[in-house]
Amino acid sequence: MNADNPNPYATLKPVTQVMTNPHFETIGGEAVIIQLVEKFYFYMNILPEAAGIRTMHAADLSHTKKILVQFLIEWLGGPKIYSSERGHPSLRKRHMHFPIGEVESNAWMSCMRHAMEDVVSNAILRQQLEQSFTKTANFIRNK
Ligand code: HEM
Repeated sequence: MNADNPNPYATLKPVTQVMTNPHFETIGGEAVIIQLVEKFYFYMNILPEAAGIRTMHAADLSHTKKILVQFLIEWLGGPKIYSSERGHPSLRKRHMHFPIGEVESNAWMSCMRHAMEDVVSNAILRQQLEQSFTKTANFIRNK
């Protein structure tokens, strides 16, 4: 590997780590993940700091919500519906079309932090998830 031919997989480690996160049962399964995603986009619609990242998304969020629910089910250790339908998450690649820097990743985290406070009752789990989300949000930064 050298600067002209960098290993495209060298940065995959954080995602691999979070993909083995066994929190699906602890969080309360699919029903709670659906609530989490609903709240996440609720906050994305109303928080001033999220206005910029909201414009990156479609006006109608129903498709996006469904995909994020499927992803989080798998990410938290539940059934692998997301990857059977959409292939490897490749989150960094899938976010390359959107300019994501510190401001955008902090805004995303702000929505997720608010949503978790509303929905995830277990404080330890909330803290662990916050760490994993933060790692991933930093990992997909591209500017
Ligand atoms: C850091 C700031 C982030 C921004 C600005 C951002 C923005 C976006 C946008 C605009 C989309 C496309 C939505 C659509 O097609 O309607 C998307 C898709 C997605 N995002 Fe993010 N995102 C961020 C972080 C994250 C993080 C941390 C995760 C996971 C923990 C995540 C998971 C996903 C997933 C699973 C999709 C769907 C991918 C697919 O098409 O299969 N995103 N994101």
